[in-house]
Amino acid sequence: MKRLASTGFGTACVLFLQGCSGWQSALDPKGPAASELAWLIWFFTALCAVIWVLVMIALAAPLLMRPRTRSEPLALDAGADHRKLRVIVIAVGLTAAIVVGLTLLSFFANRTLAAIGSDAALTIRVTGHQWWWEVRYEDATPSRILTTANEIHIPAGEPVRLLLTSTDVIHSFWIPSLAGKLDLIPGHINVLDIRADKPGVYRGQCAEFCGAQHANMGTFIIAEPRAKFDAWWNDQLQPAGPPTNGEAKNGADLFLKRPCVMCHRIGGTPAGGTVAPDLTHVASRQTIAAGTLMMSRGNLAAWIADPQGVKPGSHMPVVELNGDELNAIVAYLEGLK
Ligand code: CUA
Repeated sequence: MKRLASTGFGTACVLFLQGCSGWQSALDPKGPAASELAWLIWFFTALCAVIWVLVMIALAAPLLMRPRTRSEPLALDAGADHRKLRVIVIAVGLTAAIVVGLTLLSFFANRTLAAIGSDAALTIRVTGHQWWWEVRYEDATPSRILTTANEIHIPAGEPVRLLLTSTDVIHSFWIPSLAGKLDLIPGHINVLDIRADKPGVYRGQCAEFCGAQHANMGTFIIAEPRAKFDAWWNDQLQPAGPPTNGEAKNGADLFLKRPCVMCHRIGGTPAGGTVAPDLTHVASRQTIAAGTLMMSRGNLAAWIADPQGVKPGSHMPVVELNGDELNAIVAYLEGLK
């Protein structure tokens, strides 16, 4: 029984500690901002733990020690009072010094975070919507401005400036492996500078309750070597490829005749809606509906057939389609790489 309990405890510890690493963990930093914050939290935690242990010892010691002399409880003892006063003054002074010290550490950590950015950095505007992320790559050349959704590709090892805003309610942008969280506020732009040290995929999550589907408002940062990132950007700038078979061709025609076209844009077609994610290269993304489902033919069909079943409350309406029509639209969309 004892052995079972200790094995269970060991397993629980391993599972618990596994939560500290991975693609979405503030304790497994993959960039300078997250490293600075992780260092700060570990230092605060360690120092506070030491102080807590010392306070517990100071409390327990008089309770456990035998009094050396039995003095009269109410007798005045000026010497002892003076010593106690001195201990209190020292303790208050130490407390103040530690609080001021920790405040200064936080302040200097902020300076490190502010130093990550660079004016020459790639600038990406991230707009929060209930419940997805609009991602717009800014460029001095208008034809190179790119709009996509939910997945943010960045060049690894380079500073990236994110301009955060919202169209509806307050959201919060949080990629724990790369940086601290920052709110997206309607009518206001917050600036977050990030850098991913190495290529990789880092998951992020809206961190401010923003309505029914707050939990299904995920995002991904995909850090790639510069050449791969440039190639990705150039690919994404291309209009959608033409449908490659008869079914997909039917799907493209249906898409343009049905209400889909009112909300979604597909570059190179008359579909120009901007209130929902841009679908020009939707099949190149790894997930559907802001991280809710993995990208696959079956999941695309499930999402279009029953968006309210997959993500109740989302603004994606049900479009009346029969089985053949649904298959055709899915065939078209899954070709939009
Ligand atoms: Cu957006 Cu929570």
